[in-house]
Amino acid sequence: MAAEAKTDQKVFSPPLQPIISLRGITKRFPGVIALDHIDMDIYPGTIHALLGENGAGKSTLVKILYGIYTPDEGGILINDKPVTITSPMDAMMHGIVMVSQSPQVIDRLTIAENLILSLKKYGYFATLGRISKEIRAVAKEFNVKLDPNTEVWKLSYTQKQIVEFIRAMLLGAKVILIDEALTYLPIEEKKRFYEFIKNFKEKGGTVILITHKIYEALEAADMITVLRRGKNVGTLTRQEADIDKVRRLMFGERSKEITYERLPPGNPSGELLEIKDLWVRGDFGEYAVQGVSLKVRRGEVFAIAGVAGNGQKELIQAVVRIRPYDRGKIVLEGVDLKDKSTYYLRVNGVGYIPDLPARYGVSIENTIIENIAVLPTYARGLINWEKIRSLALKLIKEFEIKTPSPDTPVKFLSGGNIMKVLVARELNTATKLLVAYNPTRALDEATAIKVRKIIKEKVRSQGVGALIASEDLDEIFQIADRIAVMNSGRIVGVFEAEKAKREEVEKLMVM
Ligand SMILES: Nc1ncnc2c1ncn2[C@@H]1O[C@H](COP(=O)(O)OP(=O)(O)O)[C@@H](O)[C@H]1O
Ligand SMILES: [Mg+2]
Repeated sequence: MAAEAKTDQKVFSPPLQPIISLRGITKRFPGVIALDHIDMDIYPGTIHALLGENGAGKSTLVKILYGIYTPDEGGILINDKPVTITSPMDAMMHGIVMVSQSPQVIDRLTIAENLILSLKKYGYFATLGRISKEIRAVAKEFNVKLDPNTEVWKLSYTQKQIVEFIRAMLLGAKVILIDEALTYLPIEEKKRFYEFIKNFKEKGGTVILITHKIYEALEAADMITVLRRGKNVGTLTRQEADIDKVRRLMFGERSKEITYERLPPGNPSGELLEIKDLWVRGDFGEYAVQGVSLKVRRGEVFAIAGVAGNGQKELIQAVVRIRPYDRGKIVLEGVDLKDKSTYYLRVNGVGYIPDLPARYGVSIENTIIENIAVLPTYARGLINWEKIRSLALKLIKEFEIKTPSPDTPVKFLSGGNIMKVLVARELNTATKLLVAYNPTRALDEATAIKVRKIIKEKVRSQGVGALIASEDLDEIFQIADRIAVMNSGRIVGVFEAEKAKREEVEKLMVM
């Protein structure tokens, strides 16, 4: 791509007239003020990041812009004229389109068919020919091959996200809202999306990029607004922003607790988990894991580094018995897990933290208490609700879960706080072994570090073993006692964390 060499070094100054202005936007939910008199200006032809810790009010704000919620107070101006947006259709009429984190697509239809259907909803009728042409054109801008006639179930998560962007482009978006939709992409692929939105911006488009990751904002945005407990605590241009300044705005006093120093080492004793010559198939029948062998001891964190898509996910899923394996052995304290269920693992003290909580592991219709109680550990026999309630209260406090009460349905929590419910529950379950895949990806920086500290302390003081795969090398180096690198389905190197060099690990990850 020719745009590659261009950087953000040129000094940015916003155009004079905002495309969107928010004035005094306020939104209350039972027990919380999600947005507290927000004023904000978004300029055309810019990427404007909306940053904030989990539960700060980011999603509520974009839902107001997209007509999913209406504000209790305040108003929206578009090009200086007051507007009311009461549905996504209204938003669309003003050129505002949301790119969703979980693409709404029908698996059995092709990309082109899906897009025809979703445009039809908005009264646009496009021919298969035109759609196919557009799909190819946008795909080319992303530097990917995407055949419009491919059935959607065959697409990777990234490709589905690209389809979302194509949809926005076909709808003629002037402003795209991206609510954490890039957060869950592998780092390398994220960069392609940045290129794409920068390109969109160069052509006059406007992007509101919602994220809880500071580096995402610093990497892509021209302007950064930080929300904290429902308030706008500051807007900076990219030039004014640096990581410390932004951290202080986001976390206030808590920013002092943010550190990437290596946590105190574990306390390894006997062998806990053994994996022997394991072969596991991926979603498309190929061998994603090709003969992996490793041993996890009690009292250590065994971390697996790797670029997404090198078999880590399949390995972790095989260990927690939600994915079958063809060959090899997984042995926990001498017991072969071949025919054991997830239930067996749970009652035997194995906790599991997946990277997407709503898809695996939390029932969002149920309350926090119920989500803690569903575990077989508690659900066997009579449920002692008093005990579970006090446990829930303890976990809410320890993990600073932002909720009006333990009886709140989980769906009313922000994404990061839903993740905290899951992490709290699973850490509480993991009396022997913790298995995790990108455990802190959905969490803001301060919370992520706190969770790592809790995990490491558990490993040190209670002799729990942990097998953690993560794409985040900061995380790996902070928490690990041993580091294995996984590449193309194989373990290509194992290091004592103390002696491991970052460059060496990185090299093995991409070789
Ligand atoms: N539909 C809802 N009902 C009740 N509370 C909600 C609802 N949506 C959001 N909240 C609350 O509003 C606050 C802000 O949430 P949200 O905007 O999702 O945060 P963010 O996206 O910054 O993580 C949180 O305390 C959350 O629990
Ligand atoms: Mg959110």
